[in-house]
Amino acid sequence: MKPLFSKPLSSYTLIILLLVGGTGIIHGLLTENYIFLIALQCIEFIILILVMSHVYHHYIHPIQKSVHTVDELVKGNYRARVHHPAQGSITDLGNKINMLARSLSEFSIQEEVKAKQLLTVINNIDSGLALIDEKGYIHLVNRKFTQLFGDTMNDYVGYLYYEVMETSAIHETVQRIFLYEKNMKDHFTLQTAGDQRHFEIVGAPVFNEKNILKGAVLVFYDITEYKRLELMRKDFVANVSHELKTPVTSIMGFAETLLEDDTDEETKRRFLEIIYTESKHLRVLIDDLLTLSKLEHADYHLNVEQLKLSELLDSIVPVIQHLADHKQINFICEVEENISWYTDREKMKQVLKNLLVNAISYTPEKGTVRLRVFSNQEHISFEVKDTGIGIAEEDLPRIFERFYRVDKARSRNTGGTGLGLAIVKHIVEVHGGNIRVESDVDEGTSFQVMLPKHPNRK
Ligand SMILES: Nc1ncnc2c1ncn2[C@@H]1O[C@H](COP(=O)(O)OP(=O)(O)O)[C@@H](O)[C@H]1O
Ligand SMILES: [Mg+2]
Repeated sequence: MKPLFSKPLSSYTLIILLLVGGTGIIHGLLTENYIFLIALQCIEFIILILVMSHVYHHYIHPIQKSVHTVDELVKGNYRARVHHPAQGSITDLGNKINMLARSLSEFSIQEEVKAKQLLTVINNIDSGLALIDEKGYIHLVNRKFTQLFGDTMNDYVGYLYYEVMETSAIHETVQRIFLYEKNMKDHFTLQTAGDQRHFEIVGAPVFNEKNILKGAVLVFYDITEYKRLELMRKDFVANVSHELKTPVTSIMGFAETLLEDDTDEETKRRFLEIIYTESKHLRVLIDDLLTLSKLEHADYHLNVEQLKLSELLDSIVPVIQHLADHKQINFICEVEENISWYTDREKMKQVLKNLLVNAISYTPEKGTVRLRVFSNQEHISFEVKDTGIGIAEEDLPRIFERFYRVDKARSRNTGGTGLGLAIVKHIVEVHGGNIRVESDVDEGTSFQVMLPKHPNRK
């Protein structure tokens, strides 16, 4: 059948001519009347031509077109359509092919949209991703992957994974996935310009429908921040233990001596005073730790109420004045009258007290400590400035860290826990404010706190 449909019209004309010739020879044997014979052959030729032309235009040509359209569809050109004005069952064939082409076209558009969506998802996930086939060639890496490891997608796709990924943990993970055909996990560290980044790699085998291993998908998580937090937590626990150990050891030592019978009354009293001071220090430390832990709790909420500055100062200034007098420090309060704002009263007291006690502790005798408070429509600002020992530039960024002290012995002598500024910073931040510090060694230090007057208003 196929050769029949693939022949051009001229070939059919030739066949008709041969047929007319053939029948002409047979008719020539039957009749001597040549005029009749020629007329008969002419009529036969015309009838055959008409029949042929009808068959060609209504069947053969449309089928040729349909075959051509199907060929185009097979090649993936889903926009190909059958165009012909034929009637009958051939029209049906054309229409059905067109319907099939339309469905294929819609299907391919949907597939394209799905592929694009998938690619968008893959490129926007926050973990690096790589797809490797069973021979080890990389088929896909996402945007995050190139951000983590550098270079562009073209530097990875199409290459063998062990040629473009240098880390041995990656090689081992892939090899173990291929060997055991199971999910594998590992972690590694990368040294980038200036800093070290930690990664977790999770790999999974990819199987086809016959359950034959076809490759592996690797996911890379940047766990640097997690590691840093873990280290901070470990440091914190170590610091707390250390801070608790010092006063407890001292209390134990003096209590032990007291238990011995031959201590005289005066020594007893001295030792009891030391035990009392150390217990007080322990108490302050535990209070500070509890405050910090509460502030860090996710559902911590402020007890916001309207507060008059005069009220706040009345509850703090006498205590500070007393400390200042003790060291003959000139304590100056420069405040605007009649300021009031919304805040957590107790927390606010703690902020000012911590800053002022620090200022007095780290200022030698006869120095000056100045508290300034001023406000505008939106904010209230506090400045605590002293003429004390100051803080070296390299220590400045760290003084808000828990337990960070420039001079440990000095801090302990002043009764400090090393947590005061960490607490201040936390309180200021939960109020939506900020704190800044400027300092010059041997010149003095200035802390500036700025808070919104309505902390809950966004
Ligand atoms: N006004 C200040 N002048 C000089 N150094 C200060 C001042 N305030 C804080 N510091 C430094 O910052 C460290 C941390 O302060 P803080 O958290 O209050 O702990 P501490 O309990 O030691 O006072 C102090 O140990 C001290 O070294
Ligand atoms: Mg302090």
